Amino acid sequence: SLRCYAKAPAKVILFGEHWVVHGGRAIASAIGIYSRVIAESLHEGIVVESRNLGVVEDISKRCRIFCNLKKAFEYIAGGDRVLWPASIVIDSEVPVGAGLGSSAAVAVSASAAYACVGGLSVSPDFISRAAYESEKVVHGTPSGVDNTVAAFGGFILYRRGDGFKPIHAGRLDDVVILVIDTGVSRSTASAVEFFAGRLRRLGSIGKEMLELAENIIDEALKAISSGDAVRLGELMDVAHGLLNAMGVSHVSLEKAVHVARANGALGAKLTGAGMGGSAIALVESSRADNVASSLRELGFRVYNGALGAAGLSVA
Ligand code: PMV
Repeated sequence: SLRCYAKAPAKVILFGEHWVVHGGRAIASAIGIYSRVIAESLHEGIVVESRNLGVVEDISKRCRIFCNLKKAFEYIAGGDRVLWPASIVIDSEVPVGAGLGSSAAVAVSASAAYACVGGLSVSPDFISRAAYESEKVVHGTPSGVDNTVAAFGGFILYRRGDGFKPIHAGRLDDVVILVIDTGVSRSTASAVEFFAGRLRRLGSIGKEMLELAENIIDEALKAISSGDAVRLGELMDVAHGLLNAMGVSHVSLEKAVHVARANGALGAKLTGAGMGGSAIALVESSRADNVASSLRELGFRVYNGALGAAGLSVA
């Protein structure tokens, strides 16, 4: 029987969260934390198993848990939507609810593995579109950045309505990104609403801050292209300061960025919606264990991954 293996990475928003809701640009990066899927052809059924969730479900007739993946598989099957039988085993190391796009990494890897056993294309573009169908079930009206980064990897620049552009990166292989999960739960919708309210109340000050955020994007693009990690870290600190000024930080995020910097991180900021959730720190590889353990001592969950990691791969 046919057997396919696929893996896809997690993502972080490096710059531009919130500003992107108001016409600004944002930069996201794949990080070397992966969802891995093995698909095998079967005689009947579409049996999806998540090792992480400890659940198994046959979605060939009805679905309850993995209806999102079923939508992606139907997109892959195309026109008549006749699905082929397969077993899909998901093994993801991407933490759920930490702003890393875990659902997209799983959807991209599972879609590619399913397409592969069906003998169909596993091009990143096709698989990203399929995974977006899954993301709509999970997130309503997602921007599409998570599935795009999981499929294509690397660094991606985006603006609402403009689509996604790859950023050609210089060497950034002696630094890593630490993802610091504060464990403070927050609602993206209420953070977006708070930010929008303050931006409006600030009037011309808000406009100038958006301009500043856009300048940071220009400088970050240069730093990524030239592989200037020191510059990138400094820009992360400044980007965090702006988000803090807009009121979307949190005492636990402030603690995380402060401790990361005090222990030698090149820069640190909140990532995603803020008001809880995760912070990221850019750290030289040789110092990563030190910085991570000082954060873990304070009770944070810390994940370590390479920046600009490769996207979907299928074997
Ligand atoms: O919290 P996350 O990872 O879903 O990121 C939200 C990013 C925002 O810019 C705050 C909202 C958005 O839709 O772009």
